[in-house]
Amino acid sequence: MKSRLCCLASIIVIFLSIPGRASSADLGTQTRIEHVCSETSDYKLCQAVLGKNLYTSIADFDALTQICLSNILMYISDTLTFIKDAERNETNTRQREILADCDEGYGSMLTQFENAAFKFAKGDYKSMLSEIVDIKRYVTQCETALGNKLSELQKRNVDAKVFIEMFNASGKLIGHQF
Ligand SMILES: *[C@@H]1O[C@H](CO)[C@@H](O)[C@H](O)[C@H]1NC(C)=O
Ligand SMILES: *[C@@H]1O[C@H](CO)[C@@H](O)[C@H](O)[C@H]1NC(C)=O
Repeated sequence: MKSRLCCLASIIVIFLSIPGRASSADLGTQTRIEHVCSETSDYKLCQAVLGKNLYTSIADFDALTQICLSNILMYISDTLTFIKDAERNETNTRQREILADCDEGYGSMLTQFENAAFKFAKGDYKSMLSEIVDIKRYVTQCETALGNKLSELQKRNVDAKVFIEMFNASGKLIGHQF
């Protein structure tokens, strides 16, 4: 089950990530990026991710959402790998339990974002967004369990929330003309 989910995610990521050919955004695209990023808790991180992954100088909200989606899918997959490594290294039982909780939460997020990716591919943007309505709670649960331990995972949790916000903000604006 787990490995099937992993490979499905990889396939989606491959489909969604177009080989990066950096272009500078035109004025309309810059405005759209500003709009999306102003709805997130880390404007600079958001702008850096979108800027780095633009493959044409003109990107509508559909194209920006696609970037947000492949970014979050890759980030969750990477974080799952990180958590599993940390679990393997951990000798303390209580710490392993905490990591197992984070592992489960990120696993659920991956499944929900994969579902969102299928809805995106079908052009069903409303269902796409409803797939991730409650998704931040998995990050919050991991943060609470973790407390002040494992700063690398703390940092990953903070960034994961920004990436979720980006996808949500951009997805909502698909079809808007500005
Ligand atoms: C786990 O241990 C290996 C080998 O010591 C180390 O390279 C790796 O960074 C550790 N991973 C984590 C997440 O702590
Ligand atoms: C998505 O945006 C809506 C409207 O701004 C907000 O109510 C909701 O909490 C956001 N969802 C996530 C997962 O950030």
